[in-house]
Amino acid sequence: MIDDLHDLASAATARIEAASSLDDLRALEADLLGKKGRLAEVKKQLGGLEPDERRAVGQQVNDVRTTIETAVGAKRAELEGEARRARLEAERLDLTELGPFRGRGHLHLVTQTQERLEDVFVGLGFTVSEGPEVETDWYNFEALNIPPSHPARGMWDTLYVDAGAPQTVLLRTHTSPVQIRVMQRQEPPIYSVMPGRVYRRDTADASHMPVFHQIEGLVVDRGISFADLAGTLEAFTSAYFGGSIHSRLRPSYFPFTEPSAEYDINCVFCEGRGCRTCGQTGWLELGGCGMVHPNVLAAVGLDSETWSGFAFGFGIDRLALMRHGVDDIRELFTNDVRFLSEF
Ligand code: DAH
Repeated sequence: MIDDLHDLASAATARIEAASSLDDLRALEADLLGKKGRLAEVKKQLGGLEPDERRAVGQQVNDVRTTIETAVGAKRAELEGEARRARLEAERLDLTELGPFRGRGHLHLVTQTQERLEDVFVGLGFTVSEGPEVETDWYNFEALNIPPSHPARGMWDTLYVDAGAPQTVLLRTHTSPVQIRVMQRQEPPIYSVMPGRVYRRDTADASHMPVFHQIEGLVVDRGISFADLAGTLEAFTSAYFGGSIHSRLRPSYFPFTEPSAEYDINCVFCEGRGCRTCGQTGWLELGGCGMVHPNVLAAVGLDSETWSGFAFGFGIDRLALMRHGVDDIRELFTNDVRFLSEF
């Protein structure tokens, strides 16, 4: 009987070890230790034994029960661990593609600058208008008093689009064609700014990009004079750069304005003393401006006896660079997060 019990114990531990699920293990436990189980059967036979033998076999039965209970306990812990691991694996979300958390993003420096410029002009009573980036030669040049073969066309290296007759469709080289569209869309008085992307056949360097941004301004009303242009630009200058920065206008040439001027401001880095950024002049060049040419008004059917106006065009990217003391325009478009996150 003692031998039988030894066999029972070793068979039982082998079966317990082989159990492949918690359900199997529960069934096995009932079979081995339950009221109708193997050990219970042996126990029933104890009554028919001599007292000495009964004690020895009884002791053995208890040992076998302990062995089986210990083996079942260990196996249960093992199977529960496995089940838990499987459940966690099934519930696991793979978030690795998002990379390490970098915090919330923000608008690009050029967009921030554009929005600030719009805000300042809206504060001065201007509206904001837009026009297409793919333009016709007529809007980009002809209506702006730049007929075909006009030498001034050399001021803009143009990228043409392969659509329609050769060299009739292009990527706008400036935001000035939006002036024409605004004048066609609405009657004067017009007080509007027109920000947007422009394109030129230029090689990228520290101060040029083939794609950059401009903001155009247009005023058309009765009795508008050059003094209104100078006053508006000075008001803009102090609103955008602060009261210590002033503007000046220098004679220049643009086909769509007469007279034309360059708009300069006191160097924001040295406040006029002269430094590397302003080439020791104390002034920074921001863009062109002037009184709208009578031929431009005529192109949209406005009578220059009744209406007059002024216009201007600045580079947005350049303004952003100057405000933040960055000396290479390419930095804006390399999209290096270390640079972008500084603004
Ligand atoms: N369109 C000119 C350029 O891109 C800038 C400009 C000059 C705009 C004078 C104007 C203006 O409206 O009056 O070079």
